[in-house]
Formats: sequence, C-alpha cells, structure tokens
Amino acid sequence: MHAPRLLIDTDPGVDDALAILMAHHSAEVVGLTIAAGNVGLGHTVANALKLVELIGAETPVYPGCATPLVRPAADAAYVHGEDGFGDAGLTPSSRRAADEHAVMAILRLSREFPGQLTLVALGPLTNLALALRIDPELPSRFARLVIMGGAVNGRGNTHRVPAEFNIGFDPEAAHVVFSNWPKFDLVDWEATVRHGLDYAEFAQWLQVDSPRARFYAAISRRTCDWAQAQGRARLYSADALAMAVALDPDIISQARECHVGIELDGSLTRGATVVDWEGRLQQPANARIILGVDQAR
Ligand code: BDR
Ligand code: CA
Repeated sequence: MHAPRLLIDTDPGVDDALAILMAHHSAEVVGLTIAAGNVGLGHTVANALKLVELIGAETPVYPGCATPLVRPAADAAYVHGEDGFGDAGLTPSSRRAADEHAVMAILRLSREFPGQLTLVALGPLTNLALALRIDPELPSRFARLVIMGGAVNGRGNTHRVPAEFNIGFDPEAAHVVFSNWPKFDLVDWEATVRHGLDYAEFAQWLQVDSPRARFYAAISRRTCDWAQAQGRARLYSADALAMAVALDPDIISQARECHVGIELDGSLTRGATVVDWEGRLQQPANARIILGVDQAR
C-alpha cells in the first residue's frame, strides 16, 4: 500500500477521532479543516487540537464554518457527548488553532500540493461547498475525494428517516459538492452498518497499554454504552470505515458507480441521498458507492 497524503475535513466526534488516529499512523496529514456538526465549532476545534497533541503531531488545525449554509441544524451531542468527546473530563489542549479559515486552507493546500492530496470528508460538507463556490476548479487539484455520508437505500440515522447525519446537517452544502465534484468515493451509513465492529473485540483493542488506547477508551465509553442501549448489535464507526477506504482502496471488495443527488425538501426526506441505481436520469455517475470491504484486513 502506497501511503497517501491526506487533508481531512472533520467535526470530531468520537468516530472522527478514530479515523484521525488511523490517518496519522499510516499517512502524512497536511491539515485538519474543522466544521461544526457532531457538536458546535468551539468543541470540534478543541477536540482536533487535543487529538494532534495526543498524537504528538504538528498537524495544523483550521477552524471552519460554525453553521450550515442555509438552515440551522441539530447536533449529535446525544451520541458523542456535550463536548463531542464523550464528556470524559479531558484537560483541554494548550495548542492554538491556525489563524487561517478552513475554507482558505483547503484552497491554499490544493495549490501547494496539486494532484497529490486525498481529501477525506468526515463531517458536514459546509467548508468544502464554500471552497468549491470560490473556486470551481478545486476538484482538478485533488487526487481523490472520499466522503463519509448518505444512506444509499434510504436507511439513514436521523429523525428525517432517509437522511444520514453529515448530509442531513447541511443538505445544501452536500448538494453543492455532489453536483460539482466530478467523481468521489462515497462511504455511506448503510455500509457502516454492514461493517460493524464486535464490542468485545473492540474493548480488547483498547486494553493495549498506550496513551492512545487509554484516550480512546475514555472518549468512546459513553457512545459505546449508548449504542448498546439502543440495541445496536455492533459498534458502528462510520468515519473509521471511510478512513480505511481512503488509506487503502485495495480493501474495497464491492462498489457501484451511480449518479447520486441530494433531496433538499420534505419534512421526512430533506437530506436524503437519492441514488439513480438504474441510470434513468442519464446523468454521469458522480459517486463510486462503496458497498463492501475486506473487513478482516
Ligand atoms: C457520521 O455522522 C457523525 O455523527 C459521525 O461522526 C459520522 O461522520 C455518521 O452518520
Ligand atoms: Ca464525523
């Protein structure tokens, strides 16, 4: 596997944290651009700083958009904790975020590393949509875009039934990205459910004597308890799955290329990812939908 060079747009978040740990273990990370999503921007920026401090990396953290583009949206504190890191009582990092806005950082880094970066989008697509509106040529300067988002058969994870959280939080931003980025890999919520982790095995991984394992055990405790109380048979770590696909595309065992659009209306359907499985719209496929991966690997 050839290690990619990554730019990660994220809203940490317990599963974002696992993805960011994985990324720093296996790749070069040129920056973390931060959005609001799982919790408010103040927390997601603080969490990103805490993570890079824990890892001992110099990865810059760029604060981005504090709200969705058009309509306000509810966060996911009920899953990730009020602080987004499981309310584990961590000491805040003494590190400072960069002065540059995330949108500007995405534009600048795409020029500094033309054709070299894999952009991994693990949160609402607000920052990316604004960057695209400023510079429609942006996709041509990235090697690859991997998006964690959507529910391709309408089995989402929010109160608007077919909507997945990242897309449902900012559907207008998702619409801008899905209709202007020529081709991206889409790791959706339903793939996440098909590739859940065994709770006991996961707990065993966290027994390793390392600061990172202790940290992750602390921040994931609440969300693991919550998931089990919900009756979820396995632990779903959406962003970690997307990061695995970003780090090593060879793990993909099944995928379909289709056109995917975003539903912007409807009290039950706003934020749905609408997949043209049969090609009826005669539009070019914008998404390679990841349906299966080699999970053992
Ligand atoms: C996505 O929503 C967030 O809560 C997670 O961090 C992940 O990015 C899953 O639907
Ligand atoms: Ca996320």
